[in-house]
Amino acid sequence: DGFNTRAVAAGKAYFGSATDNGELSDAPYLAGLSNTADFGQITPGNAMKWDAIEPSRGTFTYTNGDAIVSLAEKNGQKVRCHTLVWYSQLPNWVKSGGFDNATLISIMKNHITNEVTHYKGKCFHWDVVNEALNEDGTYRSNVFYDTIGPAYIPIAFATAAAADPAAKLFYNDYNIESAGAKSTGAQNIVKLVKQYGAKIDGVGMQAHFIVGSTPSQAAQTTNMNAFVALGVEVAITELDIRTTTPATAAAVTQQAKDYAATVGACKAVTKCTGFTIWDYTDKYSWIPSVFSGQGAALPWDANLKKKDEVYNAILSAWGPA
Ligand code: G3I
Repeated sequence: DGFNTRAVAAGKAYFGSATDNGELSDAPYLAGLSNTADFGQITPGNAMKWDAIEPSRGTFTYTNGDAIVSLAEKNGQKVRCHTLVWYSQLPNWVKSGGFDNATLISIMKNHITNEVTHYKGKCFHWDVVNEALNEDGTYRSNVFYDTIGPAYIPIAFATAAAADPAAKLFYNDYNIESAGAKSTGAQNIVKLVKQYGAKIDGVGMQAHFIVGSTPSQAAQTTNMNAFVALGVEVAITELDIRTTTPATAAAVTQQAKDYAATVGACKAVTKCTGFTIWDYTDKYSWIPSVFSGQGAALPWDANLKKKDEVYNAILSAWGPA
């Protein structure tokens, strides 16, 4: 019994965790990640990003991404591949720009085609475009938008679909987990891709939340249904719920409720098809390095010990196995 067992019993495709190559030499960590009762899917946290895959133009390095795929194959886990087009973790040769429209389109298409073809048949999901929006729902300025305009998004989806027609293609972002301008912006991206005649299968809600200010289960359910009404599925792709460290007992109790709200929302929406936490242990969470004094965001602590209150709240929110 575990997270994945319960999620599958609730009709979902998987419960999974992000991971990173440097963590895989930690044997107790690796054993936990490889436990398919908890994790039926893994997402590479960095290995498949542009700076890792194509650090210089036309030079593709798949070693780290391949290591994650091999591990998943050995364990019998699905892989959510992350991510093809993102303004961050872009190598300088792309980020610095200076390309005209046609040249940048061809660079982007070449990157997507090469990477998606390399992983053809291995990626259950692809996060095709990541974090293309500002908080007010307008398009974020980045080298792709500034050079190509909003068409870079449907072009990216069409290119990925051509390279691996079986992979489910996702738009992925944060702060789109409840109604508001940014969620509306993401819904507009779904419409844009479809209007262009390209395939989009899903929207990933990253769900980087804060203890005590996580959107309610009802607010998350309503918001997911707004995406589903556009003909796409949704997935929780990067869930973690941070607090001030060290976490108080009261914060952990609230955190357990907050995790249960997101699990409960996904459970209630048939087309919420899967669930990923952004690594499973506080030992390897990205939070403390970005939000000073914050952390303790995951269901296992920094000593790889399960937080029973949080763990059990997640299990019971899925319901019995
Ligand atoms: O690879 C270099 C290494 O050579 C260098 O010595 C070291 C020193 O700082 O940095 C290493 O790069 C780090 C990289 O992770 C790999 O470990 C970067 O500094 C660090 O910034 C980077 O952080 C990642 C972050 O994305 C970057 O934006 C996190 O691990 C990763 O969890 C995080 O994931 C993102 C999702 O992709 C998108 N949504 C938000 C989420 C959290 O930020």
